[in-house]
Amino acid sequence: GWTTASIIDETVEAIRAQVGDGRAICGLSGGVDSAVAAALVQRAIGDRLTCVFVDHGLMRSGEREQVEKDFVAATGATLHVAEAADRFLGALAGVTDPEQKRKIIGREFIRVFETATAEVVADHHVGFLVQGTLYPDVVESGGVDGSGNNTAVIKSHHNVGGLPDDIEFDLVEPLRALFKDEVRSVGAELGLPEVIVGRQPFPGPGLGIRIIGEVTRDRLETLRAADAIAREELTAAGLDREIWQCPVVLLADVRSVGVQGDGRTYGHPIVLRPVSSEDAMTADWTRLPYEVVERISTRITNEVSEVNRVVIDVTSKPPGTIEWE
Ligand code: XMP
Repeated sequence: GWTTASIIDETVEAIRAQVGDGRAICGLSGGVDSAVAAALVQRAIGDRLTCVFVDHGLMRSGEREQVEKDFVAATGATLHVAEAADRFLGALAGVTDPEQKRKIIGREFIRVFETATAEVVADHHVGFLVQGTLYPDVVESGGVDGSGNNTAVIKSHHNVGGLPDDIEFDLVEPLRALFKDEVRSVGAELGLPEVIVGRQPFPGPGLGIRIIGEVTRDRLETLRAADAIAREELTAAGLDREIWQCPVVLLADVRSVGVQGDGRTYGHPIVLRPVSSEDAMTADWTRLPYEVVERISTRITNEVSEVNRVVIDVTSKPPGTIEWE
């Protein structure tokens, strides 16, 4: 049978056979797939792998540090962080339409990743690009292509788009035969911390699609604070495995009247969107214990001054999607 250790051994051997004495780059998203793919390639070829992390300024509290500190500490990987928050916020200024936001974030992401990659590639010849494609992704996109696992075609994924025509890479996809739970086991066995291997799904466009209205630095700060509280309390209540994910959404263009201390407030609502799901194609709203909801609500309204109301989304998918945008 396939044990986690034997999966690792065989995959590491396959990566060595494919890459030879070449070099590789890997884009880290903060998610489990890219982290485990990178950790496997690191184990196989050591510092001939360079990881690139695009900080678009739309991550949640602590996520950049998880990549910069925890991932690097666990793997010893060489990491290049592309600081791009200003650029993304500039491009998003005045934009409220969800599809427009996604397009802008996707486009900027590719540009920043290209530039960062070009810098890495300029120093050394880099022939390989690591991607965290899973078995279900392979099946979904129409099966294994004719050239097997050594293809020069950069497949467009909704997190990482295309790359420029003048940089040609062969793809290294060490997770191509694995399901998500196997990826988590491999990551844990490789020493990646639970915050990375146990991470729930999080969209590539990040908090940019969880602010309903224009994305600004202040609004991101408000949402980040509320989200951190919700995640902290859900984790403390032991609900992380029961919940598929719980988007926290800021209704930035809505205000409501409230009262706090002796004063009237006129703040924004925060929406909790806890869902239970098998595959994100359909989802049910999670019946959170009331005492957990109460703690989250009390803490957010006390600790995040711009927020004076917390509501729960009780819509299944369909008809609602998991994310609000
Ligand atoms: P929806 O909102 O369509 O979300 O019900 C289904 C799942 O996909 C995630 N999601 C994304 N993931 N890039 C991603 O990598 C995206 O643009 C994106 N949009 C939604 C969402 O969090 C949920 O897990």
